[in-house]
Amino acid sequence: MLLGFSFLHSQEMPDDFLKPDFHKSRRDLVREKMPANSVAAFFASPIRNRSNDVDFVFHQDPDLYYLTGYREPHAVLLLFKENQKDADGNDYNEIFFVQPRNFGAEMWTGRRLGHKGVQEKLEILNTFNNSLFKDYDLDFSKFDKVLFYDFKNDVRDNPRDEGDLFSLISQFKQKVGYQSNSGELTTEQPRNNIDLRTLHNIMGSLREIKTPEEIDLLRKAVFISTVGQVEVMKAMKPGLSEREIQGIHEFVFKKYQSEYEGYPSIVGAGHNGCILHYIENYKPKIESDEMMLMDLGAEYHGYTADITRTIPVDGEFSEEEKAIYNIVYNAQQTAMEMTKPGVTFAELTKVARDIVNQGLADLGIIPNKDARHLYFPHGLSHHIGLDVHDKNVRSPLAENMVFTIEPGIYIPENSDCDEKWWGIAVRIEDDILVTKDGYELLSGFAPRTVEEIEAMMKKKSPLDAFTLPKLKGGK
Ligand code: GLY
Ligand code: MN
Ligand code: MN
Repeated sequence: MLLGFSFLHSQEMPDDFLKPDFHKSRRDLVREKMPANSVAAFFASPIRNRSNDVDFVFHQDPDLYYLTGYREPHAVLLLFKENQKDADGNDYNEIFFVQPRNFGAEMWTGRRLGHKGVQEKLEILNTFNNSLFKDYDLDFSKFDKVLFYDFKNDVRDNPRDEGDLFSLISQFKQKVGYQSNSGELTTEQPRNNIDLRTLHNIMGSLREIKTPEEIDLLRKAVFISTVGQVEVMKAMKPGLSEREIQGIHEFVFKKYQSEYEGYPSIVGAGHNGCILHYIENYKPKIESDEMMLMDLGAEYHGYTADITRTIPVDGEFSEEEKAIYNIVYNAQQTAMEMTKPGVTFAELTKVARDIVNQGLADLGIIPNKDARHLYFPHGLSHHIGLDVHDKNVRSPLAENMVFTIEPGIYIPENSDCDEKWWGIAVRIEDDILVTKDGYELLSGFAPRTVEEIEAMMKKKSPLDAFTLPKLKGGK
């Protein structure tokens, strides 16, 4: 009976999460990079309220997750450069305060590890209940540097809980003598050992280079997202809604055990594609003469893909759509082929922008290639990882970075060009791994060229046969 129970229990979680030794290696690296005689503090993300008594799904702070694997709120981690001694004379170089087990609360909001669970499952031995932080005896004034990120002052207080995030932050501020918040009047000058900058550099320099374990999870997130694009290419037809197309992608993500989307899914037909972060996805019937821009990324065990495909709703690119699409494609392909260690984002961007500008000039959409315009209003690239726009320190490309290349051309209605271009919006976004001497396209499973897309869209979809009862009621 007992055996059966523990077997069941072990099946309740996927088994390909990052392992405790990954997180430990990251904590060791942070310590290595910390300045002499310093302590660093990392806090859990706040719980965000959606409305009344409903909260948004909790999403852990990526730095804290990277360093611990902990996926619960109300926690603070302290890392020390040098070993400290506890009251019994034992050495320690880290201490973690986490939310306690609570039978009643766990019935409502889910299982908690508690400090013992963290010790056993995450293998962070020096872990305590968060309510013990308040009286934890540590003289922060003895450190040359106290490293943390400035607070945003946007955390709700639970007055009945001395260990909630609000309390942990107030207690921490008290302990380190920090009254200030950006934009807030200070009542006391911060102690001069407070350092709000160094942690950005330390965490950015670590997180911008992915380990093999992280690359494995990113490959999965990216593959899952490309399967979503492929299934939608097969299912696409006039009359579908933006929302149901979003649903097909996200269903595929879930089928592969993705927890979330890495960012709100962007599914915009025609003119809606010109709105860069269009997340309403409200259009009830997409039309045969429109293009569909779909920017979606599965988040798999914390790591997110970021992939965009733009396809013709009726399965065939018009001449104008093809002309714009191929400019964007050439810009992307050329930048991709330049990818190797040592190249900078600025260099890739220049090459891609030059191709877009020349292409727009050749089509007469702008008067000449040097004319200023807003048809490509966003950046070309960013790192991906635990955040869709992942932490980094703007280094040149290096082996094991993973980043996007995502040129686009967006021609809103009433633009200063021939009307035949209005409403065309194209972005092609792929995820690239930098290798020792070049790159690997991680998102190649989703067709990218005009010909590949048109061929894929001719294939049958199992969803062609999926019909549901009509929605009854007033208009
Ligand atoms: N999906 C957000 C971006 O492409 O950066
Ligand atoms: Mn992107
Ligand atoms: Mn994107």
